[in-house]
Amino acid sequence: MIHYLEAARQFQCNTVNMTYALAITDGGYLAHIYWGKRLPVTDLTSLLRLDENPFTPSVNPRDRACFFDTTPFEYPCSGTGDYREAAFGIEDIDGYRACDLTYVCHRIYDGKPVLDGLPHTFSDISTPMQTLELLLEDQPTGLQVTLSYTVFSDSDALVRSVKICNMGTAPCTLTRVLSCSVDLDEDRFDMLTLYGSWARERQVNRLPIRHGKQRIDSLRGESSHQYSPFFALLSPQTTESCGDAYGFTLIYSGNFFAQAELTQHCSTRAQIGINPEDFAWVLQPGEMFQAPEAVMVYSAKGLGGMSRCFHTLFHRHLIRSEWKDKARPVLINNWEATYFHFDLEKLKKLAAEAAALGIELFVLDDGWFGHRDSDNSSLGDWTPDEKKLPGGLKPLADAVTGLGMQFGLWLEPEMVSPDSDLFRAHTDWAIQIPHRPMTLCREQYVLDFSREEVRDAIWTQIKAILDSVPVSYIKWDMNRQLTELGSAALPASRQKELWHRYMLGVYDLMERLVTTYPELLLENCSGGGARFDAGMLYYSPQIWSSDNTDSRDRLRIQYGASLFMPPSAMGAHVSICPNHATGRNTPFETRGFVAMNGTFGYELDVTQLSHEEKEMIRHQIQQYHQYSHLVRNGLQYRLGNPFVCSDCAAQMHTGWDAWIYVSEDQSEALFTYVQITAEANMRSRKIPLAGLAPDAVYLYTINNRQQEQLGAVLMQCGIRVPNLWGDMKSIQLILTKK
Ligand code: DGJ
Repeated sequence: MIHYLEAARQFQCNTVNMTYALAITDGGYLAHIYWGKRLPVTDLTSLLRLDENPFTPSVNPRDRACFFDTTPFEYPCSGTGDYREAAFGIEDIDGYRACDLTYVCHRIYDGKPVLDGLPHTFSDISTPMQTLELLLEDQPTGLQVTLSYTVFSDSDALVRSVKICNMGTAPCTLTRVLSCSVDLDEDRFDMLTLYGSWARERQVNRLPIRHGKQRIDSLRGESSHQYSPFFALLSPQTTESCGDAYGFTLIYSGNFFAQAELTQHCSTRAQIGINPEDFAWVLQPGEMFQAPEAVMVYSAKGLGGMSRCFHTLFHRHLIRSEWKDKARPVLINNWEATYFHFDLEKLKKLAAEAAALGIELFVLDDGWFGHRDSDNSSLGDWTPDEKKLPGGLKPLADAVTGLGMQFGLWLEPEMVSPDSDLFRAHTDWAIQIPHRPMTLCREQYVLDFSREEVRDAIWTQIKAILDSVPVSYIKWDMNRQLTELGSAALPASRQKELWHRYMLGVYDLMERLVTTYPELLLENCSGGGARFDAGMLYYSPQIWSSDNTDSRDRLRIQYGASLFMPPSAMGAHVSICPNHATGRNTPFETRGFVAMNGTFGYELDVTQLSHEEKEMIRHQIQQYHQYSHLVRNGLQYRLGNPFVCSDCAAQMHTGWDAWIYVSEDQSEALFTYVQITAEANMRSRKIPLAGLAPDAVYLYTINNRQQEQLGAVLMQCGIRVPNLWGDMKSIQLILTKK
């Protein structure tokens, strides 16, 4: 898969459909040559633009700055003449800030590196994979930089990471260490990013890139509601099913930076990594710094091809939980049913009704500990509130398990309320800057998880709960962004390390949790979907995708999320109407179909439902059990686009969305169609399907009529869905190969 062409001093990393090529130049610099559709293994020197100086006719090495400013650098440094965005920057012991990385040696080996303390993709023996490691050096400082490139036999993805070792004799400060930078030869790209806000996450933005820098980032200490750590560069003609799509994401949950820069000579520099703003890391002689992994995906099959590549890679090589291949229990979460206002009796009634309907896991959300009757107290004091739960959690857990259900619990381990015993005893454990007011957000502060003693104290409390009550599921919440970054445990020279040290601390505690309790189902959450990122997938196979449970809004949120995250990781629940976030009414059936395009569960007061609604729950659970393997292990094809889909210009307010999951052997598929807005006197719609076997005949039932049709016809001409009476009406059906 990885080839070294010795005479040409070139490397070619190949997957089934993709080639990524780089070269060592005469001066020992590493230059990018090509990334795109698979090429034969061959000398690509003719593609390298190394002799094109921008404003002098001379050739290298006379005009070095021009050379540096135009070379397609594989890992560009700052301070030596490349005036585009650098991937790597330092400040040495004397305050000087230039660096210059040249090739030392390389190795190619089977397998891939393990990143200590950071989430990372992994190998398994059944999937061959290879890694190219290139060692570069900045001679004056003695810094050694290892660039790693891993390719997988079952994916058109390239996973990159960067490790820095200080082999010099003096300390050196790293000021930027991006995880990937690539100089693409093309200039005509659209950049697709996901923007949003709380309850409105992952809205799609697609715009042509223009000269200059187009950036998204986070400086909030979390990957954020505002921008997802993901972007795609697309040819202007790229659609859902065809055209070039280059996707980038970072396996990291903290501050990130992602940028496309269209340069003076119309090449495009694409980058992703830890946000260099407010970042610095002091590296003493002999010390090492590891940057997170970046994932780069190439597909000639449009956005859909790119997304499926991310989904499969993450499913096979990033999610570790035993739950990834198992049907997740259908859960009920009491948050939207009770908020903070519950007692043991109320919860037992909810659980009993849920069990009678066939729900399998009861999750107790926020408000069970300390004296937390609203969001203004008790975070950090993880002892049950005896007023609400006399005798602690055990009577409730026993009642729930006695009903044949599993018991789940909400935690927010990283936070502390000013009104808590923990804060009163250890004020300095909260992130803060001395003599500066601490900004409150949701009435809480953030614990300094860069400190081991702080993590230990929280871990002791969590472990005591998990060892005393049969907890099968944890929802790990995180409800505020970081401010006044300061740690009482770090010297002045290291305060800028806190953002990243905090993330390493969070990962450490999650690692303890999932390795001590491997059977636990962990669902991540961050005020809804603020940490909906690949880093979290390493610890939790599912993540609550948004606090907005309105199905119509979820169509957009889940569409955006599916661009790079597997649908099986998308926490999605049926909730009550009018919806608490939007006030909108949506048919119960559609709420179920939209939630089944994710992990599926309920978040409402089941004791208040009508007989018909309860019957529908029974039916939905049965459907979920019949089809959830397709959502988990099948391939997802988006057939509509809730941001743009309407029939024709004259029908601006008719909208629809649709998707299909197809089993790997193409014998079975689950099709869902949602008519977002109804229109009187409309003809039926034909929705072209995807992913089916063209020559196979599929059986399906629509409008109570059994039908059969060739895969080729269903894909080319479409499946005919009737005009439905009402907004947000929907159809879900199964297609089986005859
Ligand atoms: C935010 C989460 O997204 C909600 O689901 C809920 O758990 C609340 N926090 C509880 O405070």
